[in-house]
Amino acid sequence: MSSSAAKKVAAAPVRACTVSRDVQNFDLLIEDMEMELGEAWGDLTFAFAMKYLDQPDARELEFLAIALDDEDAGNMAQIEAIIQRARGLDIEVILIAEELGPIVLHRLLRLGASDFVPYPLPEGALHDAIGRMRQASTAVAVPPGAAGGQMQSAMGGKKGSVLAVHPLAGGAGATTFAVNLAWELANAGGDDAPSVCLLDFDLQTGSVSTYLDMARTERVFELLSNTAVMDRDFFLSTLQCHNEKLHVLTAAADMLPLDMITPDDIERVLNMARANFDFVVVDMPGTVVQWTETVLTAADSYFAMMELDMRSAQNALSLIRTLKAEELPMDGLRYVLNRAPKFTDLAGKARAKRMAESLDISFEVMLPDGTAQVTQANDHGMPLAQIAPKNPLLKELRKLAQAIVEARRNAARIAA
Ligand SMILES: Nc1ncnc2c1ncn2[C@@H]1O[C@H](COP(=O)(O)OP(=O)(O)O)[C@@H](O)[C@H]1O
Ligand SMILES: [Mg+2]
Repeated sequence: MSSSAAKKVAAAPVRACTVSRDVQNFDLLIEDMEMELGEAWGDLTFAFAMKYLDQPDARELEFLAIALDDEDAGNMAQIEAIIQRARGLDIEVILIAEELGPIVLHRLLRLGASDFVPYPLPEGALHDAIGRMRQASTAVAVPPGAAGGQMQSAMGGKKGSVLAVHPLAGGAGATTFAVNLAWELANAGGDDAPSVCLLDFDLQTGSVSTYLDMARTERVFELLSNTAVMDRDFFLSTLQCHNEKLHVLTAAADMLPLDMITPDDIERVLNMARANFDFVVVDMPGTVVQWTETVLTAADSYFAMMELDMRSAQNALSLIRTLKAEELPMDGLRYVLNRAPKFTDLAGKARAKRMAESLDISFEVMLPDGTAQVTQANDHGMPLAQIAPKNPLLKELRKLAQAIVEARRNAARIAA
């Protein structure tokens, strides 16, 4: 498109504008804008955008598509001002970002940008973002409670159990536990097996994707930064699937700052997952974060993963103190001892007993060492069941999964 900003803008009615250093750098955006809006859009430079927003015409705008790349780092103050001004005028903002770091993006989203799409634009991505934006703005207009039935179909109708796993020392085996428990649940009961979703909330060092040989995608970041407008399709299409049975939300492609995600974000994702699956398994980070409480409160079981060593003991002690001090719920807490001593290892068993007594806890689950096969399965990106069907760790996890499925069925029977 050759028209200058001013000329194009003057040819109103304009329903949307791109804002960028030079829109010619984003030719896929030009194509998509034309597809969505025909001639009813204009392009603005950063410098001109503020002036345009001050004109009465700007009141008619539905949205700005602000396109940025790494060369715009120096324009951030200007860009932030444009977003704030637009939001003040009730104009939506969609970010189109090429190679922009997650921290910058996060700041812009927090300032009120409603959505973010990576550039080069994936097929249909701008169309979907506009759809989500419109849905979100009409969603706000619906009075609460008026759309009960509709709301449920937009979410999904299930009421899944939440099982979270929190390592009390790095390498204690939490992710191995989460991945293999999730797989065993998804295979418990043959054709009648429950549906299972595994959420990797270890935002920075998440390794579920490695253990199941999946890519960490941009879409996860998009989802986590837009949970307010997340619908069922958006959520389900962000999940990846292992062997058509286990649905997984991996960690995002970039390391996300842990405080980027709020308790509200986590609650929305958990609720969405529960509404669509029988079981939701959550792999937690080893640190206590502002949304630990959110997961703890939602969890039917919150497994604290330990080993028979001083680090695990000390971290268990400080976790228990934190939970008590903040009066957080502890009913769902289940202590798991990984690489537990063998039946014949009397000295080891005595040590485990002393550790439990000194912490005033009991180990509800004891998992044996599964030998080097465990790390091999993880490195091959496969659940243990697919690589080492006779593994002792697998046997224990399968028993646990069957007991959990059984308990849920009994509870459903009693409730019916
Ligand atoms: N019971 C076990 N037997 C043998 N190896 C294990 C066992 N549990 C975990 N591992 C291995 O220990 C390492 C760390 O496990 P991981 O699940 O990533 O821990 P975390 O998520 O707690 O940091 C991995 O290499 C894994 O294969
Ligand atoms: Mg882990």
